[in-house]
Amino acid sequence: MRKLIAGNWKMNGVQANLPQLDTLAKAHDNASVDVVICGPATLLGRMVATGLTIGGQDCHPITSGAHTGDISAPMIADTGATYVITGHYERRTDHSENDALIAAKTAAGWDAGLHVILCIGETEAQYRNGETLDVLRRQMDHSIPDAATAETTTIAYEPIWAIGTGLTPTPDEIATVHAALRAHLTARFGASGTAMRLLYGGSVKASNADDIFALPNVDGALVGGASLKAADFSPIITAL
Ligand code: G3H
Repeated sequence: MRKLIAGNWKMNGVQANLPQLDTLAKAHDNASVDVVICGPATLLGRMVATGLTIGGQDCHPITSGAHTGDISAPMIADTGATYVITGHYERRTDHSENDALIAAKTAAGWDAGLHVILCIGETEAQYRNGETLDVLRRQMDHSIPDAATAETTTIAYEPIWAIGTGLTPTPDEIATVHAALRAHLTARFGASGTAMRLLYGGSVKASNADDIFALPNVDGALVGGASLKAADFSPIITAL
């Protein structure tokens, strides 16, 4: 699998922000890594028109029906987007999403032909109590469906306490966690688990990207705030 830099615009972005994507598309036309921007649902079709690879940030577990305000995976695919995020901490917290629901959303993404970026991560209290690996293994066991493959699924490790805070684990801590995630994925999925991309997310920026990308088992990043402007995001893409 090629390495991946994914931007997550979260609840940011209106039409006036689209030129940022034109700039990115021009600058990284021949990137040796995959680049995807996960945008707000309102902009997906127009984001696709820039020529970049685009993803949604969430999907409903079923394909259609009476679910006011929700967006299904086939609807995301219909815009031309090819990725979707599931299990982001902000969905787990703001919308009380549990691992079972995240597994169902992940399967729905696959069924619609979308590549799923499935997020896991521990709270600050769990980190301080030394529970990180137990939490992550539990999240992986319950939110990644058995049918996951490297072609359909990317795992993003995002320590919750590092999201939008400017804090990051030390390189040694990231390497230790990613080695444990890799071992767990390989034990469960065999060669596909070994090939499955493992992203780090949480306060990635141009100034720390080199150090993070040099670590073993780090196959890219899921970037929030620094993905909003091409000037901030481009150096991260180049660093991978
Ligand atoms: O999806 C992205 C992550 O939540 C990281 O966000 O780069 O703003 O810390 P951040």
